[in-house]
Amino acid sequence: MSFANQFFVTPVRLLAPMEGLSDPLMRRILTQIASDLGRPYDWSVSEFIRVTQHVLPAHVIYRYVPELKTSSRTQSGTPIHVQLLGSHPQLLAETALVACSLGALAIDLNFGCPAKTVNSHRGGSVLLEEPRVMRDIIAAVRSKVPSHIPVSAKIRLGYSDTSNMGDIQQAIADSGADWLTIHARTKTQGYKPPAYWDKIAQFTQLPIPVIANGEIWNFEQAKRCCEQANTAHVMLGRGAVTRPDLIANVDKPEITMTWAQLLPYQLAFLQGEAKHAMALVGRYKQWLAMLSKGYNEAQALWTPIKREKDRESIIKYLKT
Ligand SMILES: Cc1cc2nc3c(=O)[nH]c(=O)nc-3n(C[C@H](O)[C@H](O)[C@H](O)COP(=O)(O)O)c2cc1C
Repeated sequence: MSFANQFFVTPVRLLAPMEGLSDPLMRRILTQIASDLGRPYDWSVSEFIRVTQHVLPAHVIYRYVPELKTSSRTQSGTPIHVQLLGSHPQLLAETALVACSLGALAIDLNFGCPAKTVNSHRGGSVLLEEPRVMRDIIAAVRSKVPSHIPVSAKIRLGYSDTSNMGDIQQAIADSGADWLTIHARTKTQGYKPPAYWDKIAQFTQLPIPVIANGEIWNFEQAKRCCEQANTAHVMLGRGAVTRPDLIANVDKPEITMTWAQLLPYQLAFLQGEAKHAMALVGRYKQWLAMLSKGYNEAQALWTPIKREKDRESIIKYLKT
């Protein structure tokens, strides 16, 4: 069976990889909410794991993707794919093989990261300027990992502009990638609206599934994105953190989650796994700041909580 028939029978809805934001704890909570709303994510992708000098050992991969120890699934059963980032085809291929030996369900390759440190080491979006290297990386990983494990790529529309989209498309076609996710902006466009969904349509000429991503915050945008991008498949990023009900909402706008319904999940987050309570407080504030764009109640909570350092006090605020 082809991967298209196996993974893309119906429109897929994915939770985006977001380094420092959709970490294992956030993935656990957001995928739980999606499942409880009756529309589980089809899968999510891990934060990128950088491969620079050598093949990464198991313990490093486990640190980024602890779900590998539970059949590569979150507690609610959502599959997590492993994302790698780097510029060295063989190191990436060998590391992908290690990840597969640990139970990775799929390998995704990052060609979209805009971070300076990453780009200066020829990783992430800078490789959009070197489509042949992209092709070699994907092809090396594809030929190394077992044939039943999909290998996908996540790209932007280009680095500084969209002038080499044709070459990027050809590189993907030649690489053997099993599917492609496109964040509909160039690296230079960063994360600022708009996203150029219509530019994705060109890539749908490829014989593999294409997933559209970027600037989907509500039902209408998801619908317009799919129409303009000419694909039924979407990946949700910041919108899914800001409105955790977005996943259900994109297909059934009548499904929403109230602030009161969201509170138990916030408490679960505050009681989640972390190095120490302070780390959880920081992470929760990051989430609350994003939630305040989606919920008025979060805005009201922000003022008393923003200077609070004690986790128990925050929990008390949430319970009152
Ligand atoms: C904080 C943050 C971290 C991100 N980290 C990653 C990453 O590790 N791997 C990746 O492929 N994309 C990463 N992205 C990009 C997102 O996956 C997504 O493509 C982008 O946010 C656009 O979608 P959105 O407009 O729905 O947020 C990151 C984005 C953000 C905001």
